[in-house]
Amino acid sequence: MEQGPVNLSEALSSFHALWSPHIIAQINDYDVRIAHVEGEHVWHAHDDTDEFFLVLGGEFNIAIRSDDGDERVVRLQEGDAYVVPKGVSHRPFSPGASILMFEPTGTLSTGDSEEGGIPEGVDKTTGHKLNY
Ligand code: NI
Repeated sequence: MEQGPVNLSEALSSFHALWSPHIIAQINDYDVRIAHVEGEHVWHAHDDTDEFFLVLGGEFNIAIRSDDGDERVVRLQEGDAYVVPKGVSHRPFSPGASILMFEPTGTLSTGDSEEGGIPEGVDKTTGHKLNY
């Protein structure tokens, strides 16, 4: 499917929901998604895929849990990119940021196994269409 150019600033301005990824492009079997984030996401893991993050603005943190249960926090600023490997439990949190993600089409934002309830304001989705 041919698609015109997408301007990131305009795309980010076209929706305001938090933790609600919107798809700006598809490349082969992957989505490029953007989201506004603030507050805490849920601990989850993606069994079958790595997850790529790029911080477009603000500060974005990802708590990571190793196999032995140790937790650490990866702190990311605007311009930083990071990949959460498949199967690794993680919980994004942020004082406010916009991010870009790259992951296979159909990947659930809350992963294949999430811990506890999904916090209010966190969208369990495979990504929304961009409307602007
Ligand atoms: Ni994830």
